[in-house]
Amino acid sequence: MLVLGIETSCDETGVALYDTVDGALAQSIYSQVELHARYGGVVPELASRDHIRKIVPLTTQLLDKAGRTTADLEGVAYTSGPGLIGALMVGATFGRALAYGLDIPAIGVHHLEAHLLAPLIGGADALPPALPFPALLVSGGHTQIFRVHGIGSYELLGESLDDAAGEAFDKAAKMLGLGYPGGPAVAAAAEHGDPERFHFPRPMTDRPGLDMSFSGLKTFTLNTVRRHSPLTDQDVADIARAFEEAVVDTLVIKSRRTVEQTGLDELVIAGGVAANRRLRERLAAALPRVIYPPPALCTDNGAMIAYAGAIRLSAGQTEGLEVTTRARWPLVELGPVAP
Ligand code: KG4
Ligand code: ZN
Repeated sequence: MLVLGIETSCDETGVALYDTVDGALAQSIYSQVELHARYGGVVPELASRDHIRKIVPLTTQLLDKAGRTTADLEGVAYTSGPGLIGALMVGATFGRALAYGLDIPAIGVHHLEAHLLAPLIGGADALPPALPFPALLVSGGHTQIFRVHGIGSYELLGESLDDAAGEAFDKAAKMLGLGYPGGPAVAAAAEHGDPERFHFPRPMTDRPGLDMSFSGLKTFTLNTVRRHSPLTDQDVADIARAFEEAVVDTLVIKSRRTVEQTGLDELVIAGGVAANRRLRERLAAALPRVIYPPPALCTDNGAMIAYAGAIRLSAGQTEGLEVTTRARWPLVELGPVAP
């Protein structure tokens, strides 16, 4: 079954083709980073308008690249939530209408399920973890730890009680004058930082359980910035390094605890922050086996939507003709896919 996946939940327009026999065929992505950079964050209305401009040419380009036409498509999957409602509406309306026009099934995909399943999309050396497995989802909007019992069956074990880890990276970047998106900018600045100069707290690691908190770290960063302003490039690098160390350390401690508590030692990590090199290295050193998607499949993309949609469409699940989008949508509300 050849499925077109469409991702428009935030500031990336992503489209991809996944075939249930041949695997991932092609993907195209357009990032709105430059559009939002001068505002220091995503402006929802601008995001929706830009998705509208890009969705059709990007899909045409994708089909050309893969040597396919719309007549080859057998299903359409689009992100239906959670995310920016206007942005979601663009991909969902386009996807649903395209499927209707082609008389093929459509499916609305949960963005976080797609992130979680991205490591399973496969490649030559990808060996999927055995079910159940623990998963750490670290994105711009969510920081959560799940026990994955099966596709569609997710048990929440712990989460950030305030800011998501990616959000903390973005806010720290803003305070340091590093621009948007913050994660990659902080990581790049941290490369030249002295890890010994500042020590930031590891929030909630002294308490039992798997919940986390990143808002205190944000305040700590702000106070450090104020104390040392005006900042030299070296100050920025040193603060970025201390901040990154603190977030990574906290995530590693909670991940190790997850493995100990569940007795399941193959940890999947997914979401934008999973692209962080230091986090990947530290987790690999701390745990028996860590499974993560390649960095391009960690951040938002159409391939993960095509893949998650293909699983549900192959199991016979389809959407009605209405277009449903949800700004908020807890992952635990999803139903399991029929075996
Ligand atoms: O999963 P994602 O692309 O979008 C959401 O669903 O939120 O995650 C975006 C988040 C942003 O906060 C971004 O700053 C962060 O992931 N991010 C990173 C890195 N690359 C992206 N954070 C730390 N290090 C990175 N290399
Ligand atoms: Zn995402």
